[in-house]
Amino acid sequence: MTRIAYDTVAESYADLVRGELDGRHLEHGLLATFADRVPAGEVLEVGCGSGRITEHVHRLGLDVTGIDLSPNMIDVARREYPHLRFLVGSMESLDARDNSVAGIVAWYSIIHTPPEHLPAVFAELNRVVVPDGLLLLAFQSGDERVRLEHAYGHSVSYDAYRLDLDAIAAMVVDANFDVEVRVHRAPVGYEPTPQAYLMARKRPS
Ligand SMILES: C[S@@+](CC[C@H](N)C(=O)[O-])C[C@H]1O[C@@H](n2cnc3c(N)ncnc32)[C@H](O)[C@@H]1O
Repeated sequence: MTRIAYDTVAESYADLVRGELDGRHLEHGLLATFADRVPAGEVLEVGCGSGRITEHVHRLGLDVTGIDLSPNMIDVARREYPHLRFLVGSMESLDARDNSVAGIVAWYSIIHTPPEHLPAVFAELNRVVVPDGLLLLAFQSGDERVRLEHAYGHSVSYDAYRLDLDAIAAMVVDANFDVEVRVHRAPVGYEPTPQAYLMARKRPS
C-alpha cells in the first residue's frame, strides 16, 4: 500500500518538498547536530523518498546512502542527486551487516509503519548500527491513524500514523538505544499537528 502510493506520487512529491527545509532552523540544527555527533563511517537515510535529506546530510560532510521502499522514489532521487548512492530496500529488513553503519536518519519515514510493528523496525536499525552509532527520527506527533486517499495531487490509498513521543522514546530504549535529544514543537504553517524529533545512541555492548 505504502510502496504503491509513493510510486504514484514520486514526481509530485519531489517538486513539493524540494525547498521545504529552507528557513527551518530547528530542523537544520537537528541534522547538523546529528552530523556533528555521529561516529565516522557510512550513514543511511532510510525512507529517503526523493533524496532531499540525503543530499542535505551529504552537504553536512557525511558519507550517506539513501534507501527507500519505492522504486519510483529511488529513480527520482538518482536523477535529482546523481552524485549520491540510492538503493531500493525496506527499513524492516536492511541489506547491511550487523554493526556496519555509523548512523541512521529516518526523516518522516517511520510514519507509515503500524506502531505495533515499530519495535521490530528499531531492533533492525539497532542491529546494523555500530555500538555508539546514532539514530535520528522525525515524525508527526499525536496518537492516531490517518487514511490518506489523496496526496500530492494524486488519488492514493495508504496510512500515516501520528506517533506519541514518549511511546517512541520507550520503544527506542527497549531496542538498546539511549535517548540523547527529544524535541517536540508546535505546528508551523500548513502543518496539521505538532512535530517530534528524537536522537538516540546505540548502547555499547
Ligand atoms: C514522507 S516520505 C519522507 C521522504 C524523505 N525522508 C523526506 O523527508 O523527504 C516517506 C518515505 O518513506 C518511505 N518508506 C515508508 N516505509 C518504508 C520502509 N518500511 N522502508 C523504507 N522506506 C519506507 C516511503 O516510500 C517514502 O518515500
